[in-house]
Amino acid sequence: MKKTVMLILLACLLTAGDGVNLMPLPWKIKFQEGKFRLSEGFALKVEGPFSPRVKLARLRFFKRLSGRTGLFLNPEAEGDSMILLYQKHIPLSPEMDESYVLRVGKGKILVKASTDIGILRGLETLLQLLSADEDGYFFPAVQIEDHPRFPWRGLLIDVVRHFMPMEVLKRNIDAMAAVKMNVLHLHLTDDQGFRIESKVYPRLHQVASDGNYFTQEEIKKLIKYADLRGIRVVPEFDVPAHTTSWLVAYPALGTLPGPYKKERNYGTPDPVMDPTKKLVYKFLDRFFREMARLFPDPYIHIGGDEVNGVHWGESRRVAEFMRKHHMESFEELQAYFNLKINKILKKHGKAMVGWDEILNPALPRNVVIQSWRGRESLYSAVKQGFYAILSSGFYIDLCQPTSFHYLNDPLWESQDLTPEEKKRVLGGEATMWAELVSPETVDSRIWPRTAAIAERLWSSPEVRDLGDMYRRLGVVSQELEELGITHIKNQGMMLRRLAGYGDPGPLEVLVALVQPIQVYKRHEFHDYTVFSPLTRFVDASVPDPPFPREFSSLVDAYLKGDGAAEERLKTLLTLWVKNHEGIVELSRFSPVVKEILPLSESLSRLAALALQAMEMRSRGEAPDKEWLEAGKALLEKAREPVAEVELLVVSPLEKLILSPVKN
Ligand code: ACM
Repeated sequence: MKKTVMLILLACLLTAGDGVNLMPLPWKIKFQEGKFRLSEGFALKVEGPFSPRVKLARLRFFKRLSGRTGLFLNPEAEGDSMILLYQKHIPLSPEMDESYVLRVGKGKILVKASTDIGILRGLETLLQLLSADEDGYFFPAVQIEDHPRFPWRGLLIDVVRHFMPMEVLKRNIDAMAAVKMNVLHLHLTDDQGFRIESKVYPRLHQVASDGNYFTQEEIKKLIKYADLRGIRVVPEFDVPAHTTSWLVAYPALGTLPGPYKKERNYGTPDPVMDPTKKLVYKFLDRFFREMARLFPDPYIHIGGDEVNGVHWGESRRVAEFMRKHHMESFEELQAYFNLKINKILKKHGKAMVGWDEILNPALPRNVVIQSWRGRESLYSAVKQGFYAILSSGFYIDLCQPTSFHYLNDPLWESQDLTPEEKKRVLGGEATMWAELVSPETVDSRIWPRTAAIAERLWSSPEVRDLGDMYRRLGVVSQELEELGITHIKNQGMMLRRLAGYGDPGPLEVLVALVQPIQVYKRHEFHDYTVFSPLTRFVDASVPDPPFPREFSSLVDAYLKGDGAAEERLKTLLTLWVKNHEGIVELSRFSPVVKEILPLSESLSRLAALALQAMEMRSRGEAPDKEWLEAGKALLEKAREPVAEVELLVVSPLEKLILSPVKN
């Protein structure tokens, strides 16, 4: 019941705007008079060379259309109400042409592209255009010309800190394709585990994965799955640090004698490969040869981040080597290591990607630098002639607002770059580090925010309107569920479990108003390890939920004298006042809820004050000093995180409580 009230209120707020629901927004779009009506006679003709991608895309297109509309469409029907026209079936590469033209007329749809990849991108746009009226489903008549701004639009998924089974990767590949992303960066090895089968060094996955690894057969299938959707798979094998798992299996690779213990904590552990040992390069040569054959992409990511220097500092062998080679810093030692690794990759036909620590003038200029510690390294890399991709500002594991990521343009403040240097900025990647996510919650940390990042990397830099972005994001977010993304539906399931299978209603009311605390702060509340529960209220909460933004608009409307907003506000605030009783009740038989009692109580008390403020306002009375002081104290308290979540409606409530009465 309570939830129903909330959802109805939310629905009213969400339908406020309408218009184009596309994300990413195309470069050129011209709506015209008329509609293409979808009927069961709908038929599609392919005009182009055989492409397994187009063959599958056609089937999936029909399935999604009929799934949404309930129409009994037949993908094998003969006819040409729609034509897919393209010239080439191409291998995936950073240089691939993804452009397309889409024309919807009253009786005809045309998707035209030079490559089969362009056709895939155009079909996703068309699916986002599907609309309905009382006469049925239709596509609006439109002319679209579209192409990506950047060739590298990636998502990193860390499958180490928490293992992500194939189904997680597959559904996320589908979602990436829906928003025209084209690189899945698989972070496959780290301190906590080695997540891929190696046939040449089987102890890696046998000893250091706790049984959670991908077989090479699974990887091959995944690569094919991604290829069919126009998505490259770039594997990362992080060396020389973040390598505890390798050293557990093969201690001789390490700088200190070992033995090494499986790492269960996070951070930047000390174990590190020994760059002075020949056997390390011999080992990596064979290993990278194996992986170079498995992964067809021209790039292999070698990590290279966060060498903390502790074990190198403790090694006499390292000190001796550095003295002999006139090296004065560990950075120089790592650069020596990277050069050798680069030679190995080159021998096996691959170019190197690495985190920005690897940036060093000695490396060849085909190396791609992934900027994560700040965007300065992005510009510094391209000025030195390297390619670069931006991840600083795209760390989606930090639970920052969509708007922050959205405005993080790789070429912002890049005025002093030459056109050539700008061209070497290949794009960017959202990074889903997995310390604090499980297969159950990972989608909710990736989506829908990553759709906004996808737009930043595809669309014109002038597309920056936050209100419109959030409006379209709300639509795309729901459409992603069609692809199996669990960011919305899993929350309900998690709250039911938290409610001990009682009524989750009070939790649903509260969770819509909070989000996990941002950046790395959760680690200050608990010493998280790979064994920690990720099933608490904070895990069920999502970054940048829509409701607080809507609530804020509602408060503004009320303060401007909108009578309907006043009624809605009163209903909501009354619900929040009472909700606390429900949470208290739940906590009696579901103790896991106890940690959020102070949060729920704060909300309840603030809502009561806000109602009083509205009452006084309607009577033209000003609150007395004591009341105001109590209000300020409560507001201040409500700003402190509770159980690792922050309440997102404090500022609008503050406006209600503290705004002066107009006479
Ligand atoms: C990183 O976040 N250590 C690349």
